Amino acid sequence: MEIKESWINKGYVDEPLPEGIDVKSEIRRMCKEKNAVILAHYYTDGAVQDIADFVGDSLALAQWSAKTDADIIVMCGVHFMGETNKILCPEKKVLVLDLNAGCSLADSCNAADLKKFVDEHPGYKVVSYVNTTAAVKALTDVVVTSSNAKLVIDSFPKDEKLIFGPDKNLGDYINSVTGRNMLLWNGGCHVHGQFSLEKILAIKAEHPDAKILVHPECPSPIQKVADVIGSTAGLLNFAIKDDATEFIVATESGILHEMTKACPDKTFIPAPPESSETMGCSCNECSFMKLNTLAKLYNTLKYEWPAIEVDSEIAKEAIKPIDKMLEISKNLKSAMSSK
Ligand code: 13P
Ligand code: SF4
Repeated sequence: MEIKESWINKGYVDEPLPEGIDVKSEIRRMCKEKNAVILAHYYTDGAVQDIADFVGDSLALAQWSAKTDADIIVMCGVHFMGETNKILCPEKKVLVLDLNAGCSLADSCNAADLKKFVDEHPGYKVVSYVNTTAAVKALTDVVVTSSNAKLVIDSFPKDEKLIFGPDKNLGDYINSVTGRNMLLWNGGCHVHGQFSLEKILAIKAEHPDAKILVHPECPSPIQKVADVIGSTAGLLNFAIKDDATEFIVATESGILHEMTKACPDKTFIPAPPESSETMGCSCNECSFMKLNTLAKLYNTLKYEWPAIEVDSEIAKEAIKPIDKMLEISKNLKSAMSSK
């Protein structure tokens, strides 16, 4: 099928849905016909999560793509997730819904700057968060996600000299829980960096029994008031198991979809951002994740485009730190909803 020049310029298939179709059953029909699997991150829209084969956090999504026998992986998330899938499964077709779905955190560390920093610090090993480009991963000794960062860092000898990037808040958190002094890259996520401590405390004052769930990409003052700090899957698991019935959730608000589904009798209150309107989104929403829609999912499957490609030389290097992470965390089960 022809890929139009205008779609290439836009980064996604810009075509209206055929009139009268049942988009959800068409998506499932195409998945079956093409042996395609749909993976979705917890931050995507609820409708996208509901139609996916697997929904999970960054670690679970990487673990799943490493073992799927589908011919096509459709990654509903952001660009670095598609790249990770493609690096792990070079022989498969890896599709994303919109090439504009980037990540402010991944953008905060470019490979040339990291290379310069690494060259200035001989003898240091490089630990990179999964929210990085393939080129950054190619300069990395081991990748981590927020689910396994402590486990992976603990696998190094205590006196190993480490550079950690790009998320400074996660790096600070890992330094504090491991007693290390890793050199930290000064990067961050525009969603997790925006939560308002004052507004969280005001909600807590109105709901004194509510537990505060915080993602480690949030700044330290927010982490300090947390009842639990964890990855999206970690926070979800905590909410499922804990006796509390109210939770204030300081991470991207898409996770509330799965939390509410898993715990229909509990109340989840999204932590508010400082300002309610910057970068064209309501700020506790990741504008990149929200570029994933059912209409784009339909078109991506239909045209098998946009596909992710990773330069083979970069992929050859980038797979090593990803494999190392998967090996260290092979017994770590991230929360994952599959149907
Ligand atoms: P986790 O999926 O590891 O919780 O990370 C959150 C995130 O920001 C993904 O981009
Ligand atoms: Fe990147 Fe932040 Fe969006 Fe996660 S929430 S994909 S770290 S911009």
